[in-house]
Amino acid sequence: MEQYKNVFIFDHPLIKHKISILRDKNTGMKEFRELIEEITTIMTYESMRDVELVPVEVETPLEATTQYRVAEDSIAIVPILRAGLGMVNGVHKVFPTAKVGHIGMYRDEKTLEPHEYYCKLPEGIENKTVFLIDPMLATGGSACDALNALKKRGCKKIKLMSIIAAPEGIKTVADAHPDVPVYVSTLDRGLNEHGYILPGLGDAGDRLYGTK
Ligand code: PRP
Ligand code: URA
Repeated sequence: MEQYKNVFIFDHPLIKHKISILRDKNTGMKEFRELIEEITTIMTYESMRDVELVPVEVETPLEATTQYRVAEDSIAIVPILRAGLGMVNGVHKVFPTAKVGHIGMYRDEKTLEPHEYYCKLPEGIENKTVFLIDPMLATGGSACDALNALKKRGCKKIKLMSIIAAPEGIKTVADAHPDVPVYVSTLDRGLNEHGYILPGLGDAGDRLYGTK
């Protein structure tokens, strides 16, 4: 993956620890949801490193000082439904004022083609830094379509954050959207014949919401 300058794969021991529990088929829904949130929070710190700051004047109990804050209303989160929803609280923990848009996508189980069924984005999203979030980057089809939808709405600064990625998904997104930084917690081996990531964690949406 070294050839992709805009792809960042975290190699953090705490993330590794949490992902090992996340993958375990015996991990229940509640713990799964909590882990997705916790991992997202750690990823958010890392992926916000280059976020724009503006100077503000602050009075401490002792004196006036110039300090720096994230520009007001400059960040939006866009989860890809459903599984991306599980990451929203993880971002909100560190950045509670981020507005949230939603893009609904499902993969056709046979063709693996993504289908958009919902899109509602905050006003003025085109001027914000947008964090597109989805725990799984498998073929990359859903992420690519969501990125196209955001770009069609005028978004210029987008970051994609996924917890587990397959090499196929990274390649598809990085080739189609070289301008979009991709943050990934762990890079897995590949995909099976049904488009599931190996070793992966199974169906993220089902494990988050208990639908299977
Ligand atoms: C999963 C996942 C991604 C997509 C990844 O969603 O949350 O959105 O698959 O696969 P891709 O990279 O091959 O497109 P799914 O379609 O299962 O919908 P769900 O979140 O509603 O369960
Ligand atoms: N979507 C999932 O939820 N899991 C996978 O492994 C691939 C796509």
